[in-house]
Amino acid sequence: MSYLLHIDASSLSEASVSGKVAKSFRAEWQGPVVHRDLAVSPVPHLSAAGISARSTEPAQRTPEQAEAATLQDELIDEFLGASAYLFTVPLYNLSMPSVFKAWLDQIMVDGRTLDFANAAPTTGRPAVVISARGGGYGPGAPNEGRDHLVPTLETILGWSHTLGLDVTTVTPELTMAPVIPAMAGLLPLHEASLAEAHAQARQLAKDIDQQAA
Ligand SMILES: Cc1cc2nc3c(=O)[nH]c(=O)nc-3n(C[C@H](O)[C@H](O)[C@H](O)COP(=O)(O)O)c2cc1C
Repeated sequence: MSYLLHIDASSLSEASVSGKVAKSFRAEWQGPVVHRDLAVSPVPHLSAAGISARSTEPAQRTPEQAEAATLQDELIDEFLGASAYLFTVPLYNLSMPSVFKAWLDQIMVDGRTLDFANAAPTTGRPAVVISARGGGYGPGAPNEGRDHLVPTLETILGWSHTLGLDVTTVTPELTMAPVIPAMAGLLPLHEASLAEAHAQARQLAKDIDQQAA
């Protein structure tokens, strides 16, 4: 086994619910971990130089293209070197935090992480997405169908034509219930969702560790 790559995209640091659930996962995880906190150290948005560098021979690159390609290679090497993944990606404006999208845009490179003819090199590797959200988006909730994060992440990370990871998603819900008076009646549902998320995270870490052993 190499390492677990933990990509963290919550701006809330220690107060992040996704982060706290990730701690439950990591408490059970036995192997080494590489942690990249995108809120503390955001990666730049993909630039024109970064896109054109991908189709320019290294010797022909401009200094801007070379710099952009070096960053992409560093992030991609870190991504490809992992044997398992933990993503903490909270729901922001019904979608993903922009720092996570910037990271994705940097690492999705044909011929490295993507292979349009064959399977991606990461195909079948286990990945856990922990995505806390202020509201509730489960079956029957008024917001059902409005979560545009989990379906997108499960496709980008898990689809056989993209990264092909074996993705499991954990969604602690209604995290705003303790702070928004109008949501006070939803507190028991939040507490149950949170307890389930911690238990699920612990179990996933044990299961993935065992698979890798
Ligand atoms: C910029 C921003 C946008 C948010 N947008 C939504 C949203 O669209 N739907 C929702 O249910 N909660 C939303 N929330 C609430 C967060 O999903 C909630 O606080 C969650 O716990 C954040 O995850 P974290 O605790 O892991 O940081 C938003 C919070 C922030 C800071």
